[in-house]
Amino acid sequence: MRKFRLIVLVLCVFSSCTKPQKLNLVDPQPGRTLESYQAAAKSAMIASPNPQASQIGLEVLKKGGNAVDAAIAVSFALSVLRPQSTGLGGGGFLLFYDKEKNKTVAIDFREVAPLAAHRDMYLRDDKADTKLSQDGALAVAVPRLVAGLGYLYDNYAGGKISWVDLIQPAINLAEQGFKIYPRLAEAIQQRKEVLTAFPSSKKIFFGKEGPLREGEAFVQKDLAKTLTEIAKQGWQVFYHGGISWSIVNTVRRHGGILDLKDFYHVKIHKMKPVTGTYRDYKIVSMPPPSSGGAVLIEILNILEEFPLRRRGPYNARTAHVITEAMRRGFMDRAVYLGDARFVKVPVRGITSKEYAKSLAASISLKKATPSNSLAPQHGTLNESDSTTHFSIVDQAGNAAASTQTINTLFGSGLAAEGTGIVLNNEMDDFSVQAGVPNSFGLIGSEANAIAPGKVPLSSMSPTFVFDSDGRLFLVLGSPGGPKIITAVLNTILNMIDFKATPLQAVAAKRMHHQWLPDQLMVEPGLYPEEVVEKLTQMGHAVEETPNASLVMLVARTKEGWVGVADPRGAGVPMGY
Ligand code: DON
Repeated sequence: MRKFRLIVLVLCVFSSCTKPQKLNLVDPQPGRTLESYQAAAKSAMIASPNPQASQIGLEVLKKGGNAVDAAIAVSFALSVLRPQSTGLGGGGFLLFYDKEKNKTVAIDFREVAPLAAHRDMYLRDDKADTKLSQDGALAVAVPRLVAGLGYLYDNYAGGKISWVDLIQPAINLAEQGFKIYPRLAEAIQQRKEVLTAFPSSKKIFFGKEGPLREGEAFVQKDLAKTLTEIAKQGWQVFYHGGISWSIVNTVRRHGGILDLKDFYHVKIHKMKPVTGTYRDYKIVSMPPPSSGGAVLIEILNILEEFPLRRRGPYNARTAHVITEAMRRGFMDRAVYLGDARFVKVPVRGITSKEYAKSLAASISLKKATPSNSLAPQHGTLNESDSTTHFSIVDQAGNAAASTQTINTLFGSGLAAEGTGIVLNNEMDDFSVQAGVPNSFGLIGSEANAIAPGKVPLSSMSPTFVFDSDGRLFLVLGSPGGPKIITAVLNTILNMIDFKATPLQAVAAKRMHHQWLPDQLMVEPGLYPEEVVEKLTQMGHAVEETPNASLVMLVARTKEGWVGVADPRGAGVPMGY
């Protein structure tokens, strides 16, 4: 028997274990080839979910702008091009790698709860009303995107391109308009009820004939005016002038609690990223108030205890072990994670190798662990997904990865009158009541309870991976709520364990488990039937469901940088 094992191991070393493994890929969008989602270049690369945004970023890089300059220009452009997922009424995170200093900083410009917020603000007759945390004025948290981009410009810009020049392409897009593309038309349809409820939103997204449709011209004059003001007067004008006044007025008129004081107090935080290792690689990702980095590293640490490559990606044991690791990581998310400025978050413990070893030891190789049997005794609860991510490497080898959002499609659905700004519904990322799932089915605990000035817990995970020589290897991230963490994880496993090319790593079908609901969500066709059968016998509830995450990846290869935009969307990578 031992001899047999040795032969298998030797065969493995010389064959499938070292070779790239064939992955089951998704189909590209209609009219596109898979190859059109990939680009290669020597000097610099950007992968973004929109071709015009990528072009704008590329121009900045070609003019000698650094990764942060490109990130600022792309963020403003995306706020015009993707109002369903990001914008001046939202927030986000950015990870910046400074090659010369060999240092990464994490910038938090996610929304914060208004000063008048309180933990039970969504309870009506002691029951959480999640409609209130998801739609309309009460769902709005204080936007910090513009302050974040201003902070980035003041501290990390390359110095060759002016603030005005970074915003001008976005102003042109808003003023001259663009044609409504399929996903935007679909998003307007999906949220037409809430958009039509507010005249300020209806004015933007509805024409004479009803909701704007694919191919129609989309001009945003008010947004162009707002952007021009920010370009000419500096980012502070957003917080100390007519823009915040209009946001506060609109929100209050519709029953919300924002106040001008919320805007005066806006501050941006620089943080140390959370770091870990996986096999020979170093992982650098977003710390709390995102759960992304800590949970990603926790799951990778658990998986390091298992030889995934030996059995390959489409083996029931591999699928089982990855699921169990995700289940444990997401349970800790729900129990421990929140804004570390308000609650103590045991990031060191959660990301330690010893802890992962004990969790790995708790995994039975024969059967699934029911999620409820894992839950700690004292009541734990649940957590929450429309967003945008881009990844950039500049000619000097610096990198920026940023995920930005207004939360679900069109956020709260409420636009601030006269500004063109669609306001977020990020309050729904708090735990509105113990055990009540948010819009992503996530549950939270005390750690993520609402408090004035607190940041709601996020899953956004802009991430860098460095190779064993300390060189930047991967820059990536994604939208998708909790599926962000597992989309980043699936991509890293595909690259490191299954030796996929960057395009395959992103295009490969994905799996997801978030502790509760206790379901193994797989993209249709990911596993062969016999693997699904085996998993079901082991006690996994396998659910086929599409994966809407859109990974944007820049990867180092022997030939230079390769950019990949997720074939599940309409993005395009560009480099030179
Ligand atoms: O911060 C978070 O985790 C969520 N607000 C992200 C929302 C998201 O990714 C929506 N995208 N599909």
